[in-house]
Amino acid sequence: MRRSIGWLLLSACALLRAQQAEVIYDEAKVPKYTLPELLKMRDGKKVADAKAWGNARRPEILALYESEVFGKSPAKPAKLDYEVTLADKAALGGTAQRKLVTIYFGEARKGPKMDLLVYLPAAASKPVPVILALSFAPVHTIANDPGVPLADVWVKDKKQPSLEKSRGSAAAQWQVEKILAAGYGLAVFCYDDVEPDFVGGMKHGIRPLFLKPGQSEPAAEEWGAIAAWAWASSRAMDYLEKDKGIDSTRVALMGHSRLGKTALWAGARDQRFSIVISNESGEGGAAISRRDYGERTKDLNSHFPHWFDGNFKKYNEREDEMPFDAHMLLALIAPRGLYVASAELDRHSDPRGEFLAAAHASAAWQLFARKGIGTMEMPGLHEPVGEHVRYHIRAGKHDVTAYDWEQYLKFAASEWGR
Ligand code: GCU
Repeated sequence: MRRSIGWLLLSACALLRAQQAEVIYDEAKVPKYTLPELLKMRDGKKVADAKAWGNARRPEILALYESEVFGKSPAKPAKLDYEVTLADKAALGGTAQRKLVTIYFGEARKGPKMDLLVYLPAAASKPVPVILALSFAPVHTIANDPGVPLADVWVKDKKQPSLEKSRGSAAAQWQVEKILAAGYGLAVFCYDDVEPDFVGGMKHGIRPLFLKPGQSEPAAEEWGAIAAWAWASSRAMDYLEKDKGIDSTRVALMGHSRLGKTALWAGARDQRFSIVISNESGEGGAAISRRDYGERTKDLNSHFPHWFDGNFKKYNEREDEMPFDAHMLLALIAPRGLYVASAELDRHSDPRGEFLAAAHASAAWQLFARKGIGTMEMPGLHEPVGEHVRYHIRAGKHDVTAYDWEQYLKFAASEWGR
């Protein structure tokens, strides 16, 4: 008898675990949930206007995300150490001015450094708006430009020389010609320069430069890799502010997937970015966590423990206890331009969760008398909705496509004016 009760208990536990491990891809299985109210302070006070938002609620949400999710980052360095190399006025068949800018993070140019590749329209006669974006691969992959040297690439946990055939290999995801033809510049850096993306990659990146004496790793509320990549996006912005060819009041920050999570966090913190674009950023980015659909907090923390801070681990399978959710992260971008995009087959990122977060976040834009998404009805494929917060879902898989860029360029034109 005793044995059979024990056995029953064990089987019940195994069943529970199996159920917990099941990934939800069925809307009917999404649990009922209540989102934390966007326009209510944690002490219950209502947030009635833009002033209360900017002075009280925005800092409160920012502090929550800082300590509970991405971790605190260091202050802006007193001085940006950089060098411009490889300036060419007639790159890409004469359509672009190109520069490679090396940004140094360590003292005396020792330690990690990142390459920022900048293309501006060749014909530009005044400072141009720029799209700043993070890349998974070294910058020589974004266009077929023989003037850009091949950079080494991390393969698993080893750095290796790149092959010539990798030059321009990601061109379809970047659409450099379209961006230049729209009259904008494109500035790109590879996230691996800042910290290579694997467990244990930290020692090759910038985070050790900021450890306090006696510390061997960041504390539970200090930055993870996403916050490090985001911090570096702000250092790229520091450079863009110095470049006379660039209108730094009109810089959009764009990232795909984990780099979409990064763009959201960088844009939330650094209000110099006038537009933030999240391409399929999913869980830990634009998707509502409480929906439990697709990837979950626990998946992030177990597969990518280096991305978020130590405190974030306590929300594994406890999304309901989060004093925040993705609508609050998105609202930190208000009243600037925000674009959230999904792909139909990218169920892992929870497209509906991304839409709903953008729709719920829109209340923050309304405080500034700006229209956000403007509907709670998810649009069909290829039907972008919204004004200063815009959303689309396109056919196809997890990727960045020409269609996505066409929408981002239209959005930039409407935010920035022609
Ligand atoms: C994985 C991860 C996602 C992430 C994606 C990416 O799929 O689970 O959270 O967004 O990688 O960065 O491509």
